[in-house]
Amino acid sequence: MRMTNCKNIAVDRAEPIYILGIETSCDETSAAIVADGRRIVSNVIASQIDLHQSYGGVVPELASRQHVKTILPVIEEAVSLSGLTLAAIDGIAVTAGPGLIGALLVGVSAAKALAFAIERPLIAVNHLAGHIAANYLCDSELEPPFLALVVSGAHAHIVYVQDYSDYSLIARTQDDAAGEVFDKLARAVGLGYPGGPIIEQKAQGGNCKAFPLPHPLIKDSLDFSFSGVKTAALNVLNQAEQLAKKNGQSRREILSDKDFAATVQETIVEILTAHLSQAQKITNARTITLAGGVSANLRLREAVTEMADQIGVKLIVPDIKLCTDNAAMIAAAGYFLWRDGIYSDLSLNATALWELSEI
Ligand code: KG4
Ligand code: ZN
Repeated sequence: MRMTNCKNIAVDRAEPIYILGIETSCDETSAAIVADGRRIVSNVIASQIDLHQSYGGVVPELASRQHVKTILPVIEEAVSLSGLTLAAIDGIAVTAGPGLIGALLVGVSAAKALAFAIERPLIAVNHLAGHIAANYLCDSELEPPFLALVVSGAHAHIVYVQDYSDYSLIARTQDDAAGEVFDKLARAVGLGYPGGPIIEQKAQGGNCKAFPLPHPLIKDSLDFSFSGVKTAALNVLNQAEQLAKKNGQSRREILSDKDFAATVQETIVEILTAHLSQAQKITNARTITLAGGVSANLRLREAVTEMADQIGVKLIVPDIKLCTDNAAMIAAAGYFLWRDGIYSDLSLNATALWELSEI
């Protein structure tokens, strides 16, 4: 990714710095305006869930086409709701990766056109850095260093945020992401898409110890491995289905959706919390944050709150609406890059894979 660094530009003015953020990395088209990286002025999110639901997951080509249809109205609405004019915008921040390449390209193209038209800096934001930055919008005092658990549909990372754009990866998943396990298991039981919120809802009142699931550990590493958990859960489901068939019953009489969902949710939460606690010990971080779609999960938020209370560290969790994809988090992350003069030129391209450590 080509970037120019014009560090130490003097910013000495009374009005806030307004960054317009654009997010199209997956199945949400979003545009937002954020003041000084901390205050949301407007945040418009057009979800594509209805479009992809019947396919049980995101269809990349449909996602790109929908972004093309929605991007301009969404940007127009974000500007209109802010009460500002484009002339008041100081920079255009856009998710340039990681994500679905066709989807990312729509946002990047729109951002480039806008930055060119209004003659403002273009800022390439890493999607995961954006998720982490959602925390700056929820706690105006938050400053690095801190530890972040970043759990989304495609990632399960523990990141030590050394500075606003300096990240050390403490752990990652070696196979499936946390959200991916929720999504795949929800689909296997016929509960629909996206799996995380549906499993969370089904889990209410269910037995969270209905069957044993593994808690895989990787030698000398805090990395996650969720594929064994997913396969074990699928095996339990298949066995219940076979037994039900033999007895002329329905699978749900043997293993209810509630118990299945509660057990899956609890296992994922236990694994995430245990690794996060270990990471805190290693880094001695005094502040822990959550980020990404899975951090909307109330059971995860509760378990991490208990853990943080026990070890006596500060915990910050983004508002539920800011856990899943949105452009406000991209604008917040973009502000800190803007402040350091880290801009992209108009040759910016989207990139499907972009490690946080490459920033
Ligand atoms: O961050 P996000 O909106 O998009 C990506 O960057 O992937 O995360 C989406 C993921 C999906 O896997 C979805 O099932 C999961 O976050 N998710 C949840 C919840 N809400 C969304 N997982 C567990 N509990 C939730 N309440
Ligand atoms: Zn995301």
